[in-house]
Amino acid sequence: FGKQFIYLEKIDSTNTYAKKIADSGAPEGTVVLAEEQRGGRGRLDRSFLSPFAQGLWFSLILRPSFSPMEVSKLTLMAAVAVTKALHRCGLTECGIKWPNDILVHDKKVVGILTELHASAEKINYVVMGIGINVSLTKKMLPRELKRIVTSFAMENVEALRADILKTVLEELEHYYISVSENGFAPIIEEWKVLSCMMNREVEVSAIDRIFKGKAVGLDEDGNLLVETNKGTERVLAGDVHVRPL
Ligand code: BTN
Repeated sequence: FGKQFIYLEKIDSTNTYAKKIADSGAPEGTVVLAEEQRGGRGRLDRSFLSPFAQGLWFSLILRPSFSPMEVSKLTLMAAVAVTKALHRCGLTECGIKWPNDILVHDKKVVGILTELHASAEKINYVVMGIGINVSLTKKMLPRELKRIVTSFAMENVEALRADILKTVLEELEHYYISVSENGFAPIIEEWKVLSCMMNREVEVSAIDRIFKGKAVGLDEDGNLLVETNKGTERVLAGDVHVRPL
C-alpha cells in the first residue's frame, strides 16, 4: 500500500478525491494524503476536524473481490490494523470503540470512514478514509470537542507522522492479505481483544431507538452484541457511547 502516493496541501476531503481517481482507474493500494482538509467528513454526516499538518488525513483505495455484504467487516479490519500500528508507535493504551473509532482514555484519536462503491452483487472499489490526530493540541479544538478528542501530543506520546503512516500502511496491508487468505473470523476475535468497550456499560442510539446495556461481544458479521434486561440485542448500525468508568 502507498506505492502510488498522492500528496496534497489542501483539499475538501481526501475521500472525495480518492473516489474521483478510483473512478478513472487508480489501482488498489493508492493513498491520497492531504496536509489539510476543509471539508473532512465523518460517519453519520458529521464533519471531521483536519487542520494543517496536525495529523494524518488520508484515504486508501481498495478493490476487494469479496461481496459488498462483507464491507462492514473490512472496517473492523481497519480498526484492528490501525490500533496495532498505534500500539507499535507508542500509543499503547488505545483501544477500539464499535464500530471503528480508536480511543485513548475514552477520547477519540482516530476516526475511520469506509465508503463503498458497488453494484448489488459486486464491489467496484472501497475508499477507506483514516484520520489520525497527531500534534493537535487542546487549544486548537472547539469547545464541544475538548472533552471528546485527543491526539498523540495530548497523550504525551512523541512520534513522527512519517513513521506513524508507514506503520499504519504496513499493518493495513498485512491484515488485508490475511483476510483474503483466512477470512474475517480471526479479525473478529482480535477486535474483541483490542476493544476498549467489552463488558462496559454503553448507551446505543440505533436508527429507531435508544437503549442501555453492557457490550458483551461481536457476532460473526461484526454486529455489536449488547446485553440488556430484555436479552441480548444486536446493533447493526448507529452510535454507541461508552459510559465513563
Ligand atoms: C469519523 O470519525 O466518523 C470518521 C472520520 C474519518 C476522517 C478521515 S480523514 C481522511 C478521510 N477524508 C475524510 O473526509 N474523512 C476521512
